[in-house]
Amino acid sequence: MRGGLPIRPEDVVIGAGAKPFIAYAILSTTDHGAGDEVIYPNPGFPIYESQILANGAKPVPVHLKEDRDFAFDPAELEKLVTPRTKLLILNYPHNPTGGLLGKKELQAIAAILQKHPQVWVYADEIYSRLCFSGEFFSIAQVPGMYERTIICDGASKTWAMTGWRIGFASNPVLAPAFTRWITNTESCASQISQWAAIEAITGPQDAAEMMKQSFLERGKLIVRLLNEVPGVRCRTPGGAFYAWPNVTEACRMIGAADSEEFRKRLLHEAGVAVLADIHFGARVPGEGQHVRFSYAASNEMIEKGVARMADFIRRNTRKVA
Ligand SMILES: Cc1ncc(COP(=O)(O)O)c(C=O)c1O
Repeated sequence: MRGGLPIRPEDVVIGAGAKPFIAYAILSTTDHGAGDEVIYPNPGFPIYESQILANGAKPVPVHLKEDRDFAFDPAELEKLVTPRTKLLILNYPHNPTGGLLGKKELQAIAAILQKHPQVWVYADEIYSRLCFSGEFFSIAQVPGMYERTIICDGASKTWAMTGWRIGFASNPVLAPAFTRWITNTESCASQISQWAAIEAITGPQDAAEMMKQSFLERGKLIVRLLNEVPGVRCRTPGGAFYAWPNVTEACRMIGAADSEEFRKRLLHEAGVAVLADIHFGARVPGEGQHVRFSYAASNEMIEKGVARMADFIRRNTRKVA
């Protein structure tokens, strides 16, 4: 049971991970080449934009900003919705920023969508069990939103079963369409993995709870350490296991043209692997340079990685003449 929603078994479709449902949702709600628009978070999981483009729809990014802790402003969303908008993709806790959308924002989004009944919602809730600010609240729980929301989740994050490739999506109207896509593509998710996922989901949850606690602690640790690094500032993530520090000043200090040059040098000169903001979409104007850390790593590795980054910046800081 998810938030008391009236989900029936026939509304739920199992797939080979959560990822394929992004494509199935776009394919089921837009027509290739017809000018249909899909709004998605930027920065965001890169598959949203690539699948929108691959399936002949128009990508319309809604920008996430640091001063709102990466929750987009519903007023900005409102400006982007047109009669051609067919799908709105939401993702919280969010990859790559760790940001959340609060109940108030979700209610504001629902109020906007009430005026645009042609818009479906894809709620990518793959990190819903890694939400640090109390009970996760789905947009599908807002009155009037359940029927038009595709809820997607999976086994890869909560139960660390990434390689088992099990995801699931639910929608009372579109479930039969998803089943047809799956029949015509992957046939079915591995039956062995499905049984394993049932064990994970229905078995004792203490290990999953312990990991959530551990991610919460690691998140606090990495944010504290990153904020001590010269030229770096970092917001506290509300969930998932990513930190999204602003490295604009650090780039300037070491003479890196941008976050991508910073990332490459950090990898080759300090042995620390991060991703740059451009791997999650075009940089948001006025937001500067960011990189993404995954803190799905031990405290020791986090401490070592951030210490190497601090040392790398200190070593390379240009002297002002
Ligand atoms: C936001 C988001 N959605 C979906 C996925 C895909 O999950 P899965 O491994 O279950 O396909 C990921 C994985 O990184 C993700 O970050």
